[in-house]
Amino acid sequence: MPGLRPLSRTLSSLPSGVKPPHRKHAGISRLPTLRLPPALSQAVQLYLAKHPIPRLRESCRELGNYLWSRKRPVEDRELRVRAAEVETRVRERVSERERGPASGKRFDEETQESAIKREVLKELRRCTYRWIPISYEPQISSIYLATRVDGGYAAITRVLHEIKKRVPEFQPRTLLDFGSGTGTVTWASRLLWGDSLSEFVCVDSSPSMHKVAEFLQGEDQEILRRIYFRHFLPVSPKVQFDVTVSAYSLSELPSLADRLRVVQTLWRKTQQFMVLVENGTREGHKILLEARNTVLNELSEDKTAYIFAPCPHDLTCPKTAEKIPSPCNFQQSYHPLPFSWNRDVHTECFSYLVIRRFPREGGSEGGRREGVRRRGTLNLLCSLSVSV
Ligand SMILES: C[S@@+](CC[C@H](N)C(=O)[O-])C[C@H]1O[C@@H](n2cnc3c(N)ncnc32)[C@H](O)[C@@H]1O
Repeated sequence: MPGLRPLSRTLSSLPSGVKPPHRKHAGISRLPTLRLPPALSQAVQLYLAKHPIPRLRESCRELGNYLWSRKRPVEDRELRVRAAEVETRVRERVSERERGPASGKRFDEETQESAIKREVLKELRRCTYRWIPISYEPQISSIYLATRVDGGYAAITRVLHEIKKRVPEFQPRTLLDFGSGTGTVTWASRLLWGDSLSEFVCVDSSPSMHKVAEFLQGEDQEILRRIYFRHFLPVSPKVQFDVTVSAYSLSELPSLADRLRVVQTLWRKTQQFMVLVENGTREGHKILLEARNTVLNELSEDKTAYIFAPCPHDLTCPKTAEKIPSPCNFQQSYHPLPFSWNRDVHTECFSYLVIRRFPREGGSEGGRREGVRRRGTLNLLCSLSVSV
C-alpha cells in the first residue's frame, strides 16, 4: 500500500509488551455461508411466480451490473468547474486553428461563439457520468427482488450480527429502515433480536416496494402489526429509534446534499446504532466516508458519536491516504435464490459503517480516545497504520 508501512513491519516494531492483533479480535466477525430464511425464500419464489418477469435471467444480470457500476451523480459545482476547463481547452483549439495554415474562412463572432458552445457541451456530455434515478415501479421492484434480496440479506445480517456479537446485552426495541425496499433489514433484525423488536418503521418512496415487502412478511398478523410502512422519514425530532439503517439506499439519492440530509436525519433519530451499508466499490465506500465525516465533524458537538465498525476509531481512514484509494470492503458468502442460472455459493462484497451514540465521560478528546482504546486490538492496528 503506497504511503503505508507493510503490516509485518508495523507489527515487528511494536513496543515490547504490546501484543500484536490476533485473528479473533473483536472487530472480525465471520459468519458461515448464509442462506435466506426458508419462509423468506419461499415467499420470494411465490411472489415471482405470481408476478412473472419476461427474460428474468437477463433482466437480473442487467440490473445487477447497473447497480454495481453505478457512480454518484455529478454535483453542479463539479460540473461548472469541469465546464470551465473544457471551455478553455476548446477556445485554445479554436484559436490555434485560426492561427494555423489551414485557417481559411472566418466566421462572425456570433457563429463562432455558438460553435464553441456546441463543442463544449458535446465534450462535457462525453466525459460526464450521467446519473439516472431508478424508479422502483412494479416490474423493476420484482427484478430488484430477484436480483438483490439474497446478497443484500447476507450483507445486512453480517453487519447486524457484529453488533449483536460485540454488544450481547443490547436488545433493540425500535428500528427505522430508510429505503427499506424488499424488507431484508426487517427480516435480518427480527431473526437476530427476535421478540425484543416491537416496532419497525420501513421508509420507502416506492409504493410497489412496500407491497413486495408486505407480501414477503407473510400473513402473520402479529408481525405485520409491528411494521409501519411509510413514504417519508418521520418529521418529529422527538421520535427516535434504537437502531437506524440505510442499506444500499444512500446511493439512490440525487445529490450530496440529499445524502447528507438523510444521514443527518437518521443520526438525529438514532438512540444507539446507525448502520449504513453500500456496495463494496470505490463509490460505495466514498458515500460512507461522506456520512462518517458529517457525523464526526458536523453533528457531534455533543460528542456522543463514535465509530463502532468496521474500524473503531475516528481518525482519518487510512484507505484515503493511498495514492489510488482502494475501497474498504468486506465479503460474505451466501446461497443465492435457487434459480437455474445461479451457482451454489455467491459472495456479496459490501462496505459498511456503524456509528454508535455513546455518552463520553470527561469531555470530547479524552472520551474519544478512551472509546477507541476500549475496543482492543483492531483499533491498535488502525491507529498504527494511520500514524506510520
Ligand atoms: C437499492 S434499493 C435498497 C432496498 C433495501 N434497503 C435493500 O437493502 O435491499 C433502494 C430503495 O430506496 C428507495 N428510495 C429511493 N429514494 C428514496 C427516498 N428519497 N426516500 C425513501 N426511499 C427511497 C427505493 O424506492 C428503493 O426501494
